[in-house]
Amino acid sequence: MIAVKLEPARIRDAAAIAALSKRLVEPGVAPAWTLSRVERAIRNPDCRVLIARINQDLVGFALLEFEDLGAHLNLLAVSPNQQRKGVGRQLMHALQAHALELGATRMTLECRASNTSALRFYDSLGYEQIRILPRYYEDHEEAVRLERSLQDSVTS
Ligand SMILES: CC(C)(COP(=O)(O)OP(=O)(O)OC[C@H]1O[C@@H](n2cnc3c(N)ncnc32)[C@H](O)[C@@H]1OP(=O)(O)O)[C@@H](O)C(=O)NCCC(=O)NCCS
Repeated sequence: MIAVKLEPARIRDAAAIAALSKRLVEPGVAPAWTLSRVERAIRNPDCRVLIARINQDLVGFALLEFEDLGAHLNLLAVSPNQQRKGVGRQLMHALQAHALELGATRMTLECRASNTSALRFYDSLGYEQIRILPRYYEDHEEAVRLERSLQDSVTS
């Protein structure tokens, strides 16, 4: 596992996050996560936007939003040249620990049904597929809703 520095995103990180999100999470569609939306999330006390750095380079980010009893992962991506080195896992473990600390009992997220690498990634972290959401994305692709309890362990 590669050593990364995890830190809360600042407004000056928003452009890099929006650009990575457009390239890796929303390729080929009008981006839902525009610069101004990412900036709003960074300022929003009900959100936690975490970035991963190697040296000074932003190599990954995750954006979590708190709901009543749960937390919802809205965005997660790791730069292609740093994937499969444990960066995504470290971001998720940090967010899960933070969410648990704030009283959330479960974490949910949606993932494109065709994104098999991400589905394998979430499966390795103990997320279960709880629902299929037809035509969820703008290009009408279906989404898989995933969930895991935070009460057992945040680092499994
Ligand atoms: C999904 C994503 C965030 C994973 O981040 P990552 O840093 O590469 O993942 P990690 O290295 O922490 O992987 C942890 C485990 O997940 C599983 N995993 C991760 N990527 C995988 C892949 N492409 N294929 C199969 N399993 C994978 C493995 O079990 C891996 O452990 P291992 O390497 O010891 O076998 C990254 O691939 C990414 O940014 N993808 C593009 C954006 C995206 O799809 N975001 C999610 C939208 S819902």
